[in-house]
Amino acid sequence: MTNTSSPTSPALDAPAEAARGGEIAVTFVVAVAENGVIGRNGDLPWRLSSDLKMFRRLTMGKPIIMGRQTWDSLPKRPLDGRENIVVTRNELFEAEGAHVVLDPVNALRLARDYAQKSGVGEIAVIGGAAIYEALLPQAHRMYWTAVHGSPDGDTTFPKFDLAGWRIVSEDPISRGPNDQFAATLRVLERPAGAQD
Ligand SMILES: NC(=O)c1ccc[n+]([C@@H]2O[C@H](COP(=O)([O-])OP(=O)(O)OC[C@H]3O[C@@H](n4cnc5c(N)ncnc54)[C@H](OP(=O)(O)O)[C@@H]3O)[C@@H](O)[C@H]2O)c1
Repeated sequence: MTNTSSPTSPALDAPAEAARGGEIAVTFVVAVAENGVIGRNGDLPWRLSSDLKMFRRLTMGKPIIMGRQTWDSLPKRPLDGRENIVVTRNELFEAEGAHVVLDPVNALRLARDYAQKSGVGEIAVIGGAAIYEALLPQAHRMYWTAVHGSPDGDTTFPKFDLAGWRIVSEDPISRGPNDQFAATLRVLERPAGAQD
């Protein structure tokens, strides 16, 4: 892999808690195609190696919250170096190496506890669509990879109102040999207090 594709925007490295007076930020990490698609057949609808590296960088060390289907889709479970929290309605579900919770709000509580214990300023919500939709009212920040293509898919990012959000930074992710599409990383934020 020759492509390092690391935007150097200060927004990516700014400690989120500083901007919100010590509150732990709920951040979404998502890649969305021009047609809104984020998934196909339980998997990602593209090959984007540079974005996977960016995903690792953005989530490392942070508690991550995901739906059970996204957990099932991971090629290697749990994701290393991060507390993995999986949301399911199935009380019998077991996920080796991860915490299983029965609703998204409990996932946030648990993630906050882990973030506090380890002194990190962000919780990363990593999808899929059902979990983004459930936690959208709580989100402070989004790391939004805009994928410059319109692949077929069966899962889309939930519709949301951009009012109240502002784009803090926008950086191209340079396209490497293992990237099917070009992409741009946008950081969006809305002020503390705008959440439910
Ligand atoms: N492009 C991206 O950035 C990105 C990121 C993540 C995922 N994806 C893609 O998105 C697709 C998966 O998304 P998805 O929406 O189908 O699935 P998902 O959000 O990953 O998981 C859905 C599951 O979460 C559980 N769940 C959802 N809401 C719940 C609630 N309110 N309370 C308790 N449990 C709840 C249920 O699990 P049970 O059925 O076990 O009860 C449900 O079936 C895949 O194609 C994946 O590759 C894309």
